[in-house]
Amino acid sequence: MLEEWYRRHLGPDIHDISSSGVHPYTFAEIRDLCRIPASDLDAVVMDDSVSQGGAGIRQAVADRYAGGDADRVLVTHGSSEAIALTLSTLLHPGDRVVVQEGIYHSLGHYPRAAGCDVVTLPLAAVRDGEIDPEVLTALVTPGTAAVVVNFPHNPTGVTLSPQGLKALTERAAVTGAALVWDAATAEIAHRWEVLPDPGADGGDTVSYGTFSKTFGLPGLRVGWAVAPKDLLTATFPLRDRTTLFLSPLVELVAERAMRHADALIAPRAAEARRNLAYLTQWMAEHEDLVRWTPPEGGVCALPVFRELERAGSGPEAVERFCLELLARHRTLLVPGTAFGAPHGARLGFGGPEDSFRAGLAGLSQFLRARGAGR
Ligand SMILES: Cc1ncc(COP(=O)(O)O)c(C=O)c1O
Repeated sequence: MLEEWYRRHLGPDIHDISSSGVHPYTFAEIRDLCRIPASDLDAVVMDDSVSQGGAGIRQAVADRYAGGDADRVLVTHGSSEAIALTLSTLLHPGDRVVVQEGIYHSLGHYPRAAGCDVVTLPLAAVRDGEIDPEVLTALVTPGTAAVVVNFPHNPTGVTLSPQGLKALTERAAVTGAALVWDAATAEIAHRWEVLPDPGADGGDTVSYGTFSKTFGLPGLRVGWAVAPKDLLTATFPLRDRTTLFLSPLVELVAERAMRHADALIAPRAAEARRNLAYLTQWMAEHEDLVRWTPPEGGVCALPVFRELERAGSGPEAVERFCLELLARHRTLLVPGTAFGAPHGARLGFGGPEDSFRAGLAGLSQFLRARGAGR
């Protein structure tokens, strides 16, 4: 439903306050911030690359996220491809797999498609940076094949503290479950520091990262997995039948972007923080109409509209709400039904400040007018 919503409703001249990513960069800005002269682009030979990803980009990812071990890195067409390749290879029919509630669609899809015995980790079990220890013990049992989580969570912005991550990795290790960790927006943290990538410690962990979110490069279409070398090699037959490898031109840009990651992320993280401060104030002013849990990481949240909650409305109501908001105020949210939350919507605060404020002004007028109409 998420991608279908965007196919239908994302367009020019709207205030998109729905995204889980930050304000994207132009190519001129990338070349400037990452120091890519035209001569480097001209020198690229448009030859095949290799299945695991070119040596330069793999090493750059490994140096930032995998303790320098490039053998444990697979570079892919967005992290979507990394998720598809690794989960299709790792999981088998009948495997017991714990999957976090309301998780990004493809992370939930592959365990179901593989015929796994899927058990849900409730979102409510994550509080103050920790998974309730009783729930963790009850769900991640010996014989569990994998635990699939996304922190900071898209769309709620809930995340783990360093202590909470330690407890989860220890439980996975003790039971022999592979920890599958999607860190798409890990580089922007609000409540605790940026968490280390659990894939860097070796072991059975599979972690995913992407240039699409906090780097501001969704159009580059590059992501990665950090995982045991054997698992990565085992994905090659599927890759041979799908995308083969990335373009060397894209790999060059991605390598430079990774080597200059801080220069790309810092301005966007600062903009997201300013937007979050503004949003926090906005939420206080609209407390009679909306409730929320402030996000602990990433650039999105899941506000709940009191009017829909009070009415106990079904999924069509929030979809109608978002469609009317778009038609009247050119402001885009994603209905919470895309994440199993029928009374709320995904609200992203990573975008350009002026458009973000204009979108919130539209949402404000819309909510006040509906309130007055009742
Ligand atoms: C949590 C999460 N994981 C993975 C992805 C896939 O991103 P991409 O394929 O652009 O790297 C997204 C995209 O929205 C996401 O939110």
